Amino acid sequence: MSVVAVVPAAGSGVRLGAGMPKAFVELSGVPMLVRAVDGLLAPGVVDHVVVVVPGDQVAAAGPMFGDRPVTVVPGGADRTASVAAGLAVLGPGTEVVLVHDAARPLTPPDVVRRVVAAVRAGAPAVIPVLPVPDTVKTVDGAGVVVSTVDRSALRAVQTPQGFRAGDLRRAYAGTPDPRTDDAGLVEAIGDPVRTVDGDPLAFKVTTAWDLRIAELLLTGAGERIG
Ligand code: CTP
Ligand code: MG
Repeated sequence: MSVVAVVPAAGSGVRLGAGMPKAFVELSGVPMLVRAVDGLLAPGVVDHVVVVVPGDQVAAAGPMFGDRPVTVVPGGADRTASVAAGLAVLGPGTEVVLVHDAARPLTPPDVVRRVVAAVRAGAPAVIPVLPVPDTVKTVDGAGVVVSTVDRSALRAVQTPQGFRAGDLRRAYAGTPDPRTDDAGLVEAIGDPVRTVDGDPLAFKVTTAWDLRIAELLLTGAGERIG
């Protein structure tokens, strides 16, 4: 069963503010994008990776991957368009597709294994999730609390998300509305989306704080704090 991962890495990283596309920012000397790709390939369950980068970075990105089984393509104006650009180059033999943010460079191999195993077991769409530990409230435009949400039913969603290739292609047919994840499009066509356990290390690097945490986790310096 051929498993291909699409890695959207074409964002500009406005919230990180590093002055370069976020996926190219280095963590302990290795670009986040390369770490994300290596995390996908580590468990040996992914055959090929399609990396989607800003149009002006395609030539520079290719050599970053050495002899890894990687194809680099230009992305689009939002994440959904970038994933669509990656899906467009998948061959007809692709049976399972993973979609994984370049911005989750520390994702453990076990998360990748769990997602692929659940798709192989027959689920059309699979997402890794974590419980939401904080109390969650809705507020109005003036910042006044409207309600407290029952958090026992809430889950924070990570990547990689896994799909039977045909189902993801159907979800992406036409011009899909921009979404922050791929399972959202699969939900919209009425397919069931299964969950597996995520991992705190699969967190997304969004801000400078996240980047600092990731660096501390990698160097082990976090253990010396306090
Ligand atoms: N992404 C993409 N193409 C876009 C926008 C985002 O491939 N046009 C990718 C990012 O590179 C990232 C993932 O989608 O790997 C998740 O997006 P996010 O964390 O929002 O990254 P950015 O869009 O780069 O960050 P920001 O929103 O702060 O600008
Ligand atoms: Mg973004």
